Amino acid sequence: VTIYVPKDAAALALGADRVAAAIEREAAARGLAVSIVRNGSRGMHWLEPLVEVVVDHERIAYGPVKAGDVAALFAAGFLEGGDHPLCHGATKDIPFLKQQTRLTFARCGIVDPLSLDDYRRFRGLTGLEKAIAMAPADIVTEVTDSGLRGRGGAGFPTGIKWKTVLDATGPQKYIVCNADEGDSGTFADRMIMEGDPFVLIEGMAIAGLATGATKGFIYTRSEYPHAIAAMSEAIEIARREGVLGPSVLGSGRAFDMEVRVGAGAYVCGEETALLNSLEGKRGIVRAKPPLPAHKGLFDCPTVINNVISLASVPIILDRGAAFYRDFGMGRSRGTIPIQIAGNVRHGGLYETAFGLSLGEIVDHIAGGTATGRPVKAVQVGGPLGAYFPRALFDTPFDYESFAAKDGLIGHAGIVVFDDTVDMLHQARFAMEFCAIESCGKCTPCRIGSIRGVEVADRIAEGIEPEQNRALLADLCNTMKFGSLCALGGFTPYPVMSAMTHFPEDFSPAPRVEAAE
Ligand code: NAI
Ligand code: SF4
Repeated sequence: VTIYVPKDAAALALGADRVAAAIEREAAARGLAVSIVRNGSRGMHWLEPLVEVVVDHERIAYGPVKAGDVAALFAAGFLEGGDHPLCHGATKDIPFLKQQTRLTFARCGIVDPLSLDDYRRFRGLTGLEKAIAMAPADIVTEVTDSGLRGRGGAGFPTGIKWKTVLDATGPQKYIVCNADEGDSGTFADRMIMEGDPFVLIEGMAIAGLATGATKGFIYTRSEYPHAIAAMSEAIEIARREGVLGPSVLGSGRAFDMEVRVGAGAYVCGEETALLNSLEGKRGIVRAKPPLPAHKGLFDCPTVINNVISLASVPIILDRGAAFYRDFGMGRSRGTIPIQIAGNVRHGGLYETAFGLSLGEIVDHIAGGTATGRPVKAVQVGGPLGAYFPRALFDTPFDYESFAAKDGLIGHAGIVVFDDTVDMLHQARFAMEFCAIESCGKCTPCRIGSIRGVEVADRIAEGIEPEQNRALLADLCNTMKFGSLCALGGFTPYPVMSAMTHFPEDFSPAPRVEAAE
């Protein structure tokens, strides 16, 4: 009997290793032969560790399983799919999973992440094989035509970025994968690296063939030890099997890559600070231009793409641009892995075509708050994203619709808050976060964020609230238009959205002086 027990960091944090050990022990004690596969996560965090048993070629889900539940599961006959309060029936029929459109995450949680055979069995490497037979410019056209835009947050068309690098000249070109996933409530990059690392390798190899780059780097964070281990091992396997190296899949064209680990600065997710860090320098932002596409790593033409952008490329090459472009709405084509976190009943990863409304995501998919209290605010797009009130729940999840409401979808993380949240406190937190994480290169961010904390404190203390609210808005304006990069430039989004949509939290009762 084959049993899947995830080794994704979220499942491990909830005791997946202990569950796997308990299953082995219990099976041995009962003289039963089981084969445990350690897969990635299916992305349903409230069910982790989610144990799946293969019965008649169908995967039956049990979760959340604790080591202490294992004996009872065996007693209930779970190896035959036996009923038990933790049983959810066939995994693929769980509504949260069934309603998704999994293109980028098609294999995540299904395959053994480090089995290249499994990867091939689920259409892996077909995109790369097709790319090998194409001229570089045709690969770039395919990606451009798919409508894929940068999933790191900025939404810049991936094909146009690749074309810039293809057309640039330099002694060497690089593909850099930005895996420095720093946004609060996001975990899509980590899930791919842990659950389907070959798809990222394949996407980077295709990017290399398309642009003439022969060397790739995955820049990730030290806080992701499991992703680092999985990626490093997958790269070794890919090299051994000829997917990477001097002749990619026997094509005669070279591409190789390695993993580099950052020391944990949020700003190193900004592409130019990332390049500095990769070069062994302090992670400080560079002025643009020059664009990294012209002068990037070691001053050479460099593609920098987020994990999800690169991991979406294999299916585009495999199924064709039109297949991918058919999903989505407006200028937001394809699918987006929405990461649902915060105070929700059903948190996790939900890949779907662009266009669902925020309300559908929060109320129906996430099932509202875990506390059962009303939702007050949803922060979309990480710590630099805007807070949306219920009044904006009809906003469709796509780049332009969110921008039109003074927000951003960013890396597609959403964090839900109930009515106990104090939005002035959240605004102060945004300024404090910026002050801590600022690289210090430019004044609006370095000094503005500290002044922002002080002004928020004065509002909270009821000191000249009207003047201080105006001052905070003025400061936000300066930071938005005067900062060199998105860290200082986007901090005003959470601050201004909190102030605009939740004015009541910015009008604390005036301070009453003690009676003489
Ligand atoms: P940007 O708009 O300056 O650039 C986007 C990308 O397009 C960059 O790679 C840039 O080099 C490239 N580009 C721009 N013009 C180009 C051209 N003509 N030819 C070729 N390439 C071109 O945005 P930036 O500063 O890179 O990213 C900001 C975004 O990062 C925000 O929207 C935010 O959501 C996101 N973000 C994501 C985080 C995460 O954890 N994933 C963390 C923090 C912010
Ligand atoms: Fe550095 Fe902040 Fe300026 Fe960005 S905005 S360059 S993080 S000081």
